[in-house]
Amino acid sequence: MALKIAVIGGDGIGPEVINEGVKVLNKLIETTNLEIEFKKFDLGANHYLKTGELVTDEVKEELRNYDAIYLGAVGDPRVKPGILEHGILLDLRFSFDQYINLRPIKLLDSKYTPLKNKEPKDIDMMIIRENTEGLYAGVGGFFKKGTKDEVATQQMINTYKGVERVVRYAYEYASKRNKSQKLTLCDKANVLTYGHDLWRRVFKSVGENFDTVEKNYLFVDAMAMKMVRNPEQLETVVTCNMFGDIITDLGAEIQGGMGMAISGNINPNGVSMFEPVHGSAPDIAGQNKANPIAAIMAASMMIDVLGYTEEAKKIDEAIELAVNNNMLTVDMGGSLTTVEVGDYICSQLK
Ligand code: NAD
Ligand code: IPM
Ligand code: MN
Repeated sequence: MALKIAVIGGDGIGPEVINEGVKVLNKLIETTNLEIEFKKFDLGANHYLKTGELVTDEVKEELRNYDAIYLGAVGDPRVKPGILEHGILLDLRFSFDQYINLRPIKLLDSKYTPLKNKEPKDIDMMIIRENTEGLYAGVGGFFKKGTKDEVATQQMINTYKGVERVVRYAYEYASKRNKSQKLTLCDKANVLTYGHDLWRRVFKSVGENFDTVEKNYLFVDAMAMKMVRNPEQLETVVTCNMFGDIITDLGAEIQGGMGMAISGNINPNGVSMFEPVHGSAPDIAGQNKANPIAAIMAASMMIDVLGYTEEAKKIDEAIELAVNNNMLTVDMGGSLTTVEVGDYICSQLK
């Protein structure tokens, strides 16, 4: 039966890079058993400015019938920061309870990392980010707003259930890795003595059932340092929502830039959503120069999670050829356009 994929291009470079991902999937359909029915959903700044709507309940109801959501990015300089990000991206992550955010960091070729003397074998980790609570829960408020006595609070929500399920997923993930089985908890338990105390206790108790996994702890500041100095010491990392956001932009850069980093928002029992880590990049939107590789890799991750592992491998191999042959956009030192990179990857699908 055909997979049903909901496509949300979104804003800025979102639609440009997602078009390339859909193009690659359509090419794969011609040569394999993969069948996909796509439907486009027109959500983002233009739709919001025209109608005042973000994601309505009716749209969410409809999205429940899909196997996955394939998203570009949202965010537009014409709209106040937070409205589209909360109203579309975070609303989808929360409404579909996509509590795992898988963010692989994998270097394909030494020449694309700014780190000296680091090779692909040194930069190969999986960041597992909690994706439905923490500082993103939207709990807080203003008191005496607009006066000199103003108080603004933003609370970090850590629930036992939320922490336990992501930590358990991370242990299961680490225990299946072929390399040595090492899981690092990245937190700030020396300062966040309530919230991250809960994380430490959960990490320890869930870990009792995973004898083969080597347990490791890093404060987030030291984590930032390690990612630059000794990325080879990191394999599977589990962390809270906010820290996961920040360290994965750092991770994107050590693997070749924002155009190479992908994100799977996973609900193991529901509708998952796949997207590049980068945003709508208004500075380069509409110029046909955005790197489409992250979006294409996200498409590969999507079909892999949906059970089409062999087909996903074909996309990954074609991307490796583009990287090895420098058939790339300017951000990676190439000279091709967004569309040309997509065309090249299609032409290399075996
Ligand atoms: P950004 O990721 O959009 O851009 C950061 C820098 O990276 C820019 O210089 C941009 O040109 C470059 N860049 C990003 N993706 C690229 C690509 N594929 N190819 C080449 N260069 C690329 O981050 P920002 O500027 O902080 O945010 C812009 C908007 O996007 C904001 O509204 C923000 O809220 C939103 N945003 C959305 C998402 C999402 O929807 N998943 C993620 C991050 C940011
Ligand atoms: C990301 C983005 C989002 C996040 C924003 C746009 C809400 O930065 O996917 O990394 O912080 O999760
Ligand atoms: Mn981010």
